[in-house]
Amino acid sequence: MNKPAKRLISLKINGMEYEMAVRPNRTLLEVLREDLMLTGTKEGCDDGSCGSCTVLLDGSPVRSCLLLAVEAENREVTTIEGLAEDEKLHPIQQAFVDHGAIQCGYCSPGMILTAKALLDENPEPSEQDILHAISGNLCRCTGYNKIVTAIKAAGRNGKEGD
Ligand code: FES
Ligand code: FES
Repeated sequence: MNKPAKRLISLKINGMEYEMAVRPNRTLLEVLREDLMLTGTKEGCDDGSCGSCTVLLDGSPVRSCLLLAVEAENREVTTIEGLAEDEKLHPIQQAFVDHGAIQCGYCSPGMILTAKALLDENPEPSEQDILHAISGNLCRCTGYNKIVTAIKAAGRNGKEGD
């Protein structure tokens, strides 16, 4: 069977513009990891159920395994590589480290981006708000308590003037 023809698209990822020829059936996850080597975005289930591939699209969390790269054209994509600035971890990343919210780390990029979207909207979420926000991000290691603590702390720290 013939492969679909490539299409020239422009993607904006972590503030950088990329002009690329991609086949219309390729997911954003594939293009991020295989073409752009942005492997911080993790591939878990590849069917939309684990959340490890979460990136932000115009500030909202989406599963990049379910999104075609062509659907991200002319939108703002943020991956975990876009959070740290000049070697300094983003406050949410730092809070995950400080509070032991990372074990194997496989869920962490998606979890942290989901937390960023939440805290951008609501810097002081309740535990319920946090659990609701991360309900689509599965973690096999931490039991979630430390993740919730880290997200709460990151919200407070951000408010205290970062
Ligand atoms: S890899 Fe996308 S939701 Fe699991
Ligand atoms: S830290 Fe291992 S899956 Fe979350």
